[in-house]
Parts: sequence; structure tokens; C-alpha cells
Amino acid sequence: MPSETLTIVDNRTGRKYDVPITNGTIKAIDLRQIKAEEDDFGLMSYDPAFMNTASCISRITYIDGDKGILRYRGYPIEQLAEQSNFLETAYLLLNGELPNRAQSDQWVHDITFHTMIHENIKKLMDGFHYDAHPMGMLISTLAALSTFYRDAKDIYDAEARRKQTYRLIGKMPTIAAFAYRHSVGRPYVYPDNTLSYTENFLSMLWRMTEVKYEADPVLVRALDVLFILHADHEQNCSANAMRGVGSSHVDPYSAMAAAAAALYGPLHGGANEEVLHMLDQIGSKANVPKFIESVKAGHGRLMGFGHRVYKNYDPRAKVIKKLADEVFEVTGRNPKLDIALELERIALEDEYFVKRKLYPNVDFYSGLIYQAMGFPVEMFPVLFSIPRSVGWIAQWEEMLLDSEQKIARPRQIYLGPPVREFVPMIKRP
Ligand code: CMC
Repeated sequence: MPSETLTIVDNRTGRKYDVPITNGTIKAIDLRQIKAEEDDFGLMSYDPAFMNTASCISRITYIDGDKGILRYRGYPIEQLAEQSNFLETAYLLLNGELPNRAQSDQWVHDITFHTMIHENIKKLMDGFHYDAHPMGMLISTLAALSTFYRDAKDIYDAEARRKQTYRLIGKMPTIAAFAYRHSVGRPYVYPDNTLSYTENFLSMLWRMTEVKYEADPVLVRALDVLFILHADHEQNCSANAMRGVGSSHVDPYSAMAAAAAALYGPLHGGANEEVLHMLDQIGSKANVPKFIESVKAGHGRLMGFGHRVYKNYDPRAKVIKKLADEVFEVTGRNPKLDIALELERIALEDEYFVKRKLYPNVDFYSGLIYQAMGFPVEMFPVLFSIPRSVGWIAQWEEMLLDSEQKIARPRQIYLGPPVREFVPMIKRP
């Protein structure tokens, strides 16, 4: 039997070390024993941006980036998108198993009965400027929620955690819809508990004077599928923020505000907004080759392309591309689709993109659907945040219950000035 160890020879000293390999990984802390001098700190690994460092053991989401595979708790994303619904998928991500009928009914009830927000939260949202970005409103409101629920600090009380979970998943669509209504100067629409999660969200967004809002079932289903696809994505930038901030044992609302802030960035959840700006900038199919050349020359990136983990077609993008056709049947075709299809066609054949394994990611087509459904681009990262709240909570809870986890605190390599004497202002050149 080959030994499950790694032998390291330190050429500075000639010493040999055997380091255990577990799950295809060595522990960075095992390197600490390797010292050139007795009083050395010990060897560390240097890994900016976590390119090759596992920060946790997880049992939630599996990705094989080379093969383009994504699974939640073992279930392929394509099967969930086809056969599940968002709240059922949320239950799966959080509890590890699909619910039975009774569990599902209870879960849907518990989420539905936590959709209202405190009137003071509404007043707080009223205070934002009329053209405030809805994502900024969402981030701030999430942080503000922590001031309303004192039991949120009881993070090691399972019952309290469950309560915050209902509240967070239930209130996300309400806050998102209120942010939108505020930005267009329309009165807020309160949640309707007789509607499904996605129907209710659409009602809070679009209802005007009608007694009951009736959403198109194709659009309800499309949004539900988009929510399934965005629910978790293992250790991405925002999940890492949720875990990292949560590791200080702050309440989940504050940690989620940090996670949502991470998602806001154009390299993460803000990318779908950038895709639409990019398509606007390109303007027509005829301008696509020129745009591709400018990207290759280093002037900006092809937004919605490339991924840290996927070096193949993002499986979510495949589902979304198909979904787009169903949505456009109802809404009419988004004229920017032609530009997007041409970009994809050329990029997938171009040496630059092929060599770097750059394929469309989840954000490439989702924005086109959102726009066709009537959402302004500023709402896109908000639409991403609603379902991702589930992944954030699942990752946060897993981190809290993992006995190997501690407060997240990376090391650094200090290359700044050595110690020096303070110079009073009068003596400075
Ligand atoms: N357009 C043009 N070139 C690109 C792109 C792109 N979209 N993405 C990567 N490259 C090039 C990059 O210039 C580099 O080339 P070189 O080796 O010559 O320097 C090479 O490909 C590797 O890029 P990288 O920046 O080292 O890759 P990364 O893993 O650090 O970045 C990424 C991943 C998603 C940040 C990046 O691909 C990107 O900026 N994409 C555009 C933004 C985007 O669509 N983001 C959404 C990600 S999916 C949703 C989510 O999970 O948030």
C-alpha cells in the first residue's frame, strides 16, 4: 500500500518531513514544523485569493469545474431545475435531505409567515435617496435587521438559528421589492400569504390597483428556476465573506450584510448588470468582432465569461439559455439576445478564449431574462441575493457547527520597512 503521506525535503537543512495527506489535501499547519533555524516561525504557504487552499470541509455543494458539474447535496442542478422548486431546494440545502410532504408544508408555512417587515424597517428604507442603488438599500437593511431581533445573537441556540433562517429567507423578497418600489416612487405592496414565494415577490414588485396580482405562470416558474440555480455555489467570494465575518460570532444579519456587499461587486454578483451595460455599449451584432478584439487587446473583460472554478460551460448558463426561450415567448424577444449569441459564438471559437478556457457563466444570459421580465439592471444583483441568502445561511451554520473552525484570520508575509525611529514633522524633508 502506498503511504498517504507527502515527503518534503528542506534543501536549506537537508531535513526530511512526512506530512499526512487526507482527502487529497495537506494541512498548511503541518508545514509550520519546517524550520531553517530553531527560532524560525516555521514554513507557511502563500496563496493570495485562495487559488489552491481549501478553507473548510463542506457537505453542501459540489462543483467539478473541469467537467461543468454542479450538485446541491448530491443532486445534479439540472434535475433540481427541472423537478424541484426554490423553497424545496432551500430546505435541501439547509437540512441536507429533500423534505417529505409534511416537512415541506411546514417549511413553506414557516417561511411564508415571516415575510412581513417591521414598520420601522419600512421607514428606514424610506430614508434612502430616490435614486439609491437597490443593492445598497438591501445591504444596509440587512444590517439594520440585526437591531430588531435580539435573539439573533444566540448563534449556538438551534431554535434561535432556525428563527433567523425563516426571517432572512422570508424577508429577503420583501426588502428587495420595497427597494424597487422606493426607487420608482410607488407605494410598497405588503406580502400576500396566499401566494407562493415567487408569486408573492412578483406581486410585491408589480401590483398596482388590482385587488390580487396574477403573475404569468411561465414567468413565475422561470424566476423560481433562476432562484434554484443561484441558491448556492460553495466557497465563492460572498460565501467566504459570510463564513469569515460569521466566524467572529456576530449575528447572521450582520454577517449577511457583509456577504451581500461581497456579492455587489462587478466581478461577482454585479456581473449580470455589467453584461447588460456591455451589450448596450456594443450596440449591434456587427460591432461584436471589434469588441472582442478590444477585450483581447486588454481593454476590459468580456463580462459574463470566465469563472474561477468552471473551466467548461457553466451548467447554470446552459439551463438559463434554454429558459430564456420560454420567457421570451411570453415577454417578447430581448433584442440584445442577438448580440449575446454572436459574442458567445465568436468567443467560443477564438484562440484567446479557448486557450484560457473562458466560457459563458451564470450571469451571461440571466440579465437578458431579467430585463425582458421588466427588471431594471440595478435590480439584478438584488435578484441574485434573494436565493443566495439560502446558501449563505447553510454555509454559515456549517461553519458554526464545525469544531475545526475558528475565527478566520489569515497570515501575511511582511515585506514593509524594518523597525525605524519616528521623525518629528519639523525634521522631515
Ligand atoms: N474576459 C477576458 N479575459 C478574461 C476574462 C474575461 N471575462 N476572464 C478571465 N480572462 C483572462 C484574464 O485576463 C487572464 O488572462 P492572462 O492569463 O493573459 O492574464 C486569464 O483569463 C485568467 O483570468 P483570471 O483573472 O486569472 O481568472 P480568475 O479566476 O481570477 O477570474 C473571474 C475569474 C470570474 C473574476 C473572471 O473570469 C472575470 O473577471 N470574468 C468577468 C466577470 C464575470 O463574469 N463574473 C461573474 C462570475 S460568475 C458569477 C459569480 O459566481 O459571481
